[in-house]
This record gives sequence, structure tokens and C-alpha cells, in this order.
Amino acid sequence: MSYPYQISSMEAYQQAYKKSVDDPEGFWGSIAENFQFRKKWDKVLEWRFAGDGAPVVKWFQGAKLNITENCLDRHLDTLGDKPAIIWEPNDPEEHYRMLTYRQLHQKVCTFANVLKNNGVKKGDVVCLYMGMVPELAIAVLACARIGAIHSVVFGGFSAQSIADRIQDGKAKLVITCDGAFRGNKTVQLKAVVDDALVQCPTVERVIVLTRTRTPVSMIKGRDVWWEDEIKKVETMGNPPCPAEEMDAEDPLYILYTSGSTGKPKGVVHTTAGYMIYCTYTFVNVFNYQPGEIYFCTADLGWVTGHSYVVYGPLAAGATSMMFEGIPTYPDAGRFWEIVDKHKVNILYTAPTAIRSLMAHGLGFVKDKDLSSLRVLGSVGEPINEEAWQWYFDNIGKKRCPIVDTWWQTETAGVMISVIATVTKPIPSYATLPLPGVQPAIMDEHGNEIKETEAKGNLCMKFPWPGMLRTTWGDHERCFKTYFSAYPGKYFSGDGCLRDKDGNYRITGRVDDVLNVSGHRIGTAEVENAINMHADVVESAVVGYPHDIKGQGIYAFVITEGDRHDNEDLTRKDILETVARIIGPIARPDKIQFVKGLPKTRSGKIMRRILRKIAEGEMNNVGDVTTLLNPDIVEDIKRGKV
Ligand code: WT7
Repeated sequence: MSYPYQISSMEAYQQAYKKSVDDPEGFWGSIAENFQFRKKWDKVLEWRFAGDGAPVVKWFQGAKLNITENCLDRHLDTLGDKPAIIWEPNDPEEHYRMLTYRQLHQKVCTFANVLKNNGVKKGDVVCLYMGMVPELAIAVLACARIGAIHSVVFGGFSAQSIADRIQDGKAKLVITCDGAFRGNKTVQLKAVVDDALVQCPTVERVIVLTRTRTPVSMIKGRDVWWEDEIKKVETMGNPPCPAEEMDAEDPLYILYTSGSTGKPKGVVHTTAGYMIYCTYTFVNVFNYQPGEIYFCTADLGWVTGHSYVVYGPLAAGATSMMFEGIPTYPDAGRFWEIVDKHKVNILYTAPTAIRSLMAHGLGFVKDKDLSSLRVLGSVGEPINEEAWQWYFDNIGKKRCPIVDTWWQTETAGVMISVIATVTKPIPSYATLPLPGVQPAIMDEHGNEIKETEAKGNLCMKFPWPGMLRTTWGDHERCFKTYFSAYPGKYFSGDGCLRDKDGNYRITGRVDDVLNVSGHRIGTAEVENAINMHADVVESAVVGYPHDIKGQGIYAFVITEGDRHDNEDLTRKDILETVARIIGPIARPDKIQFVKGLPKTRSGKIMRRILRKIAEGEMNNVGDVTTLLNPDIVEDIKRGKV
């Protein structure tokens, strides 16, 4: 495969950028020519605000296609015997698996027929709660093949979280595994699904893949084994599964993500624009060259897995590595061992992983051959200079550009980033917007700062093909969350600064959203979960700097009466409660019991003060005189954990 839209020089970047601003429709229209459509579009972009101010965004209206024909079928003649997915299991003693494009195509068609046999139709929502096995990618693609909307839920979420997501999407079918391997642990996925389904009457069928072969309950009439269902299709002679013809704007998937208020919202991505945006950015950001082995360590439970393990790389005909385990099992050399063994050329991982491996020392790096590496990537949170330098020096051996990619679940693909081999990396900067991306930095009065050097809130003033279309079942919420703070613009929730050369540095969220080990968690969500504990009266959650996780979760908690006789036990009970309500990933790192919370006269919690205390900036909490209860501040400071 060749990529006529691949940018290979600074001038080409500047030209592409200019064209994307001067003539966005011409720009994206010509990129779309490199994809396979059953019918071409009538109009590249429709972008307007409806009477109530809600955004209307449509890309490639009138086009008909199926994304799996772009990811699989069209490669069969040229790349049929080339590896599409190489999968490394949790345990290095277990043999890796390789699926060629032809094999992957076959497996996707077979499983798509399984879904059909189980009553799944175009437009149905299918919930996936699985470990990082190739069958997860197969199931995702099988949904897309028949026009079902996939909703993947990360394996670190609780039964309650799955139930919330299933109910919100009204999923009819769930695909899961008996269990998942994670380091030296086995996670009981099916048991968690069983707990969730107690509250989910819409679910008619559960397909269970065997992975860990842990005992599971199988309910007659509802639960079936993946392997048995595949056999049924095979005894039918394994008929082909023609791809469903989809509209450009038909939903492809829902992915839930946290915001500053309430429950997570289902970000909706549609078909044509999504496909084009994640493929374009994949090819350009990583400077992918045909035949290269590309390894993104992300889980398919997150958008990075959707766009840069599955859809982007496969649509580009790349070889995508998929990894089941954790970076530190069996030891902190696991990533480097995989790079060495499979001669990985491009490695894309998260700062939290880099920091944790860095802490284990260079012993795990030194006997590994990393000479195949050509490009390194970072995603999910700001990468601090120390981690950047360590990654650059010891993994890239000072030869490999680091692409620090800023983007979000809502953007579908990378927005601001170095373009490998083309634009210049600067530690801790995401650097320049990709073609098609028009950032605006807003000041505290809501005006765009036009000067090059600027600091403020990061918005986008023009749509891009990967932009979220709505939040599932609640367009009003989409509008309020993203398009109401700065009318006419998409607001990212991030703060940033721009230097004199136009490079962007992301400074972190300006709303009440935490980024814990690259996982996005709302403080309100954690508070709600803590408040579910029977002894808890009120709580306030803030983030604080954490050496490995980037941010840690600090909870200030008021308990009923005098329950402090066994603080340690209460603390553990609260952790258990949060794990039940959201999932283990949202458990606070620190819990401090307090007698009160600093509040304004109108009863609002002054988080600014709590944040300073959590950060250890005791003498810098600012003015407390306007508080309803100023004395409480000293009290909280004394009790800091
Ligand atoms: C939030 C989005 C990007 C896909 C995976 C996470 C933060 C992400 C960077 C970066 C600084 C970053 C932002 C953003 N973030 N990448 N390179 N530099 N911050 O997607 O869960 O939707 O989280 O992650 O705060 O808003 P997500």
C-alpha cells in the first residue's frame, strides 16, 4: 500500500496545513479518494448550529461504505498473506499468535455470522467486556461488518459500570471471556458480567470466549460459548459474510468517557469520517512505512485501542501488535523483549508506563536489541521532561523521534503532535496541530487569543472528520458539555500554552476530571461512589501529583458519628465500595477523614483549597476568610495523609 497523503517534509506539512484551512472540503475530499466506497459522497461537510445552538456535523454525506472492507477486504489481493495482527500473550512462555489479513478477514466473517445467528442486526448495540485477546479485535470488526454498534467496556470497570453502559445503550448482546490474564492475576470477567446482568433485562444473549478456563456459570437460553457458535457456522459450510452497506454517518461505536459531572457519557463516532481521520493521522503521525511492525500498547477498552490498534493501522494495511499483559510482568523488561523479538519499528505507549519502567532501572533494557525501533510515541497525559528524556535516550537511543500525541476520546484521533521525521520534537510539548486541526486558545473572558504566544483554554474552531457527533441518547448533553462554554467552538476541557513558534504545550484539565495512569476519571463520579458507603456523609475528591500515575486520587471524607475507632478498616471499606461502584481503577490513593469541608457561604466546596492541601502546598492555600468555616482549613492541614 502506498499513501499519497503521507507528509514527508516540512514544506509538505505547511502546504497541507494551509490547504486544510483554506479549503477543508477539498482537502479531506482528496484524502477520502484513497478509501473504498460503495458510493461516493454528495457533500464533504455540513457544519452548522441548529436553532437551539446544538451542533450539526456531517462528513461525507451520501457516501456508502463498510469500514471492514477498508480494513480487510481491499487488502486481500496485495497483503493477504502479510500479518495484520501479531498478538503477544500475558505469559511469554505461551506462543504468540499471528493473523494474516486473509485469516483475520475469515475470522471476522465467521464471527459476524455468529452474531447474525444470535439475532444481531444493523443498528443493534453490542457490549464487549473482554481481555486483550485477538478475539476482541475480531469481535469489534465483526460488529462493524454487520452494522452493529460496538460498545467496548474496559476490563477494569465494575459490574455496576457495565450495567450502566448496557442500560444506556440498550445492548441486546454481550461478548465476554471466562477470564483474563493480567500479570500474575486472573480476572473473572464472566462473573462480573453475571453481576451486571442482574440489572439488564435488554440482554438476550451472552457469548463467552474461553481464555483462562476458569469455572463460570452458563445460564441456559442466555449464555453460549464462542467456540460452539463458531462450530455451528463452520458446519453450515462457513458461508461468506458480505459487509453491510453503511451510510457515512451511521454510528460505528459508542465509547463511554468521564466528564466533570454525573455519569460517564457515550461518545458516538460514525463511519466514514472516523475511518479517514484515524487512518490519515496514523500514517502521518508515525510516518508508517509499508511492512513495518507497529506496536501500540493500549487496551481496546480505550479510544487509543480503537483508533490505533484496530481501525487506523488495519485501514492502512499495517501490521499491528496487540499485547495482553502488563508492562511489568514477568518483569519490567516485557515491552523491550517484545520489541526485540518481533523487531518492532514503531512503539506507542503511555507516560505512566514509561515512568514505571524507568523506576525499575536500566537493567531490564540493557540486554535487549532495540535497534529496530524508528519512531516512539506517547499518549494519554502530559509527558514530563524526565520521562521524555529517559525514553529518548534509553529506548530510542537518541535516534528515534518521540511523537507526543495530544487528543481525546471525543476527537477520535490525534490532533496536536509531532509528525515523525517531519516536524521537530520538543520535550513536554505536543507541538503543532495536524492538517485539518484549527485550535483556538481562549482567555478568561471567552475571547480567542490571537497572539501567537498565549495561555488559556484549548478549543477547536472548525470540525475535523473524527469529531464526536453526539453523546448517545442525549444530544443536549453533547452540546452543553462541548459547545456551550465557547459558542461555535468545541471545548476540550484542557488548558494549554502556545510558544512564540506556535508550539502547543498541554498543561492538563481545567475541569474536574482526573488523569490517573492515563485513565480519565471524574471527581464527581468518585465522590458519588464514596458517598454510597453507608458511613459516609460527604466527600470531596481532588487530584495530586503522583510520581508514576501522573495524578493520584485524594479523597477528603466526612463519616457519620464517631466511626474513627478503626479508621483503617473504614478506609478499606470505602476502597471496596468505589471498586464495586466504578471499578478498581478509580480507588483513591489517599483517604483523609475530616470533620468538615471548606465551603463558601453558598455551600460550595472550595476545591482549590483542598487541591493545595493534597499537593502538599500547605502555606499556599490562598484566601480563606470568605469561607463559611475558615477554621476547618487548619484542621484539615493537620490531618493530611
Ligand atoms: C485527555 C483525554 C488521547 C487518547 C487517550 C486518552 C489528556 C491525552 C495527552 C498528551 C497532554 C494529554 C488530556 C485529554 N491527554 N494526551 N499527549 N499531552 N495531555 O483519551 O481518556 O479521552 O483523555 O487526556 O487531558 O483531555 P481520554
